[in-house]
Amino acid sequence: MKTLSMIAQKGGTGKTTLSIHLAVQASLDSLKVLLVDIDPQASATAWWRRRREAEPALVQSRGKKLEQVLKAAADQDYDLVVIDTAPHSSHESSASAHLSDQVCIPTRPAILDLDAIGASTELVSDIGVAAMIILNSCPPPHLFGEPHIVSEARQALSVYGLPVCDVAISQRAALGHALIDGRAVTEFERKGKAAREIDRLWRLLKEELGL
Ligand SMILES: Nc1ncnc2c1ncn2[C@@H]1O[C@H](COP(=O)(O)OP(=O)(O)O)[C@@H](O)[C@H]1O
Ligand SMILES: [Mg+2]
Repeated sequence: MKTLSMIAQKGGTGKTTLSIHLAVQASLDSLKVLLVDIDPQASATAWWRRRREAEPALVQSRGKKLEQVLKAAADQDYDLVVIDTAPHSSHESSASAHLSDQVCIPTRPAILDLDAIGASTELVSDIGVAAMIILNSCPPPHLFGEPHIVSEARQALSVYGLPVCDVAISQRAALGHALIDGRAVTEFERKGKAAREIDRLWRLLKEELGL
């Protein structure tokens, strides 16, 4: 079993959106997936309650319980656990990172978000867990490749010494719309551009995780 945490000390960077989409994508890829919601705001849980499909499974967990939840998941032969964490909670993010094989740190490519990422990169670097920054809510790529703001963000992020994921996720309404009735974008608009980006991101992480 592999564990992936979505961590960012800043709110609104896409932790819940990406956790949900990766968990769904992995279960569509025939893996047994558990989404663990440790954010007291419980947005992933609210999405899951609107959902008709049984998979991925979801549990809420806080504090010390997380270790037990992961142990139970391993006993139940889950292939992948995705942990959606809360912003502004370095203690819980740190506990989650400690228990993970891979941490993803989503950030928007805007300067205020890039400035704020230091707290999260420091946290994972101190722990020494494999980590990757994911650019989210980016302007979509154009014919000639990535928009300037995305390549500039990659450059600015290089000071943190963590890899920046090759797949950048664009700002697309479908990623929000799909969640309204408990779906993910692949189930909502299977051949759309957002679904393709999520699929590419999942494939890349699947390889990182050795799944
Ligand atoms: N790539 C994206 N395209 C469009 N909307 C997005 C994207 N990523 C996040 N959002 C929207 O931004 C808001 C914050 O995202 P969310 O996943 O809740 O962030 P976090 O969990 O980090 O606080 C939500 O309204 C979500 O629908
Ligand atoms: Mg969230």
